[in-house]
Amino acid sequence: MSRLLVRPGETFRGEVTISGAKNSALKLMAASVLAEGRYVLRNVPDIADVGIMGRLLEAMGMSVRRREDAALEIVRGPALVAEAPYELVERMRASTAVLGPLLSAVGEARVALPGGDDFGSRPIDMHLASLEALGATFELSHGMIEGRAGRLVGCEVVLEYPSVGATENLLMAGATAQGTTTVRNAAREPEISDLAAFLNRMGARVLGAGSPTIVIEGVDELRAVEHTVVPDRVEAATFLAALATAGGEVTLRGARADHLDLLIEKMGRMGLRISPEADGIWAMASGRPRPVDVATLPYPGIATDFLPMLVAVMCLADGTSYATENVFAGRFRYVGELARMGAQIRVEGHHLVVDGSARLSGAPVRAVDIRAGAAMVIAALAADGETTIHDAGHIDRGYERFVDKLQGLGADVTRLD
Ligand code: EPU
Repeated sequence: MSRLLVRPGETFRGEVTISGAKNSALKLMAASVLAEGRYVLRNVPDIADVGIMGRLLEAMGMSVRRREDAALEIVRGPALVAEAPYELVERMRASTAVLGPLLSAVGEARVALPGGDDFGSRPIDMHLASLEALGATFELSHGMIEGRAGRLVGCEVVLEYPSVGATENLLMAGATAQGTTTVRNAAREPEISDLAAFLNRMGARVLGAGSPTIVIEGVDELRAVEHTVVPDRVEAATFLAALATAGGEVTLRGARADHLDLLIEKMGRMGLRISPEADGIWAMASGRPRPVDVATLPYPGIATDFLPMLVAVMCLADGTSYATENVFAGRFRYVGELARMGAQIRVEGHHLVVDGSARLSGAPVRAVDIRAGAAMVIAALAADGETTIHDAGHIDRGYERFVDKLQGLGADVTRLD
């Protein structure tokens, strides 16, 4: 049980280096199932979820190691065990990203069906329907999805919703399908573009990633490659939100302002001064944040992953903010934790009405998921007294050296265990 202790500290000063994106790195690791050989992935964050994906690849017969230069080396040999067991899928839903690559590479996949999680029920029906459209068949047996396929055959798939995971599974399955796969209403997140770039480097022909229509011309063979993971826009957003409550001035080295357009605009309205630089983002905050209205949407909208952090800032704003969660139905469990710190938040369906207070009050709270944990730290930076964040292991799932990075900016955050 790991815990963090946060006390209000100095205003921020200095520079923090943004790590590679968790949600890209995990999918690139899954994509390495597609072709034999040695992969070198740079800028892969050293976080718990990457460890779980590494364990999954090892369980499938691949080898994964962190090199001395910090790059992740993955070796995929000729034989694969085409199974993602419950113990790993239950700990990390992103394990379902191996479904498409396994069907494409070996024509079979046994992947535990992920259950509900902290965000409510999270089905994978769109993943399955799209892979079925390419010729795969699925059966559910004893909690495992058992998929089979001959060589997949490209076709046009219209996604009901631009699901990140379903788009990724389609890209990986379509890469070696026979003929052309066209994905309409595709997710447009920067991590999708990163996966497409990785696949293209492997020899795939993916066009249009980052737009709502992606065209994949199937190729006969792919090869192992080297690649550098795109910077983590959620981590950058987290440090901007932390700056908004702590005050001060920071440079986010390596952050991509072009992946954060709307967030930068919203945070500007909240009172932050933000300026893109050649290799990062500079930002400054002073005084109380101003209230804003925010609604989450698929990219390029405000990401659902940003909302808990933005709500933490709204709790301290000089007025009433409104937040709407459109992506995940059940993602408000952190609201009760913020309320323990004195936050005034009313939940109305998938909307929050947040009445800002001049000060929050430090309290024992729980990190209910990765982003909610980060939100607790952000609120605690501007709370009177001490905040102890329980279940801080959630934060370690998604943030590399979070405590060190915050300390480097002047925050008073320590790990208790
Ligand atoms: N959905 C379905 N059926 C499906 C797939 C999705 O109904 O087959 C629904 C989901 O239940 C949800 C919505 O569609 O309501 C969006 O889900 P999406 O598939 O886009 O999300 P995901 O691939 O499961 C990834 C990230 C999440 C991030 C979302 C949205 C990874 C590993 N996870 O999840 O990140 O919130 O996209 O951007 O890439 C996090 O990093 O903490 C995190 C939760």
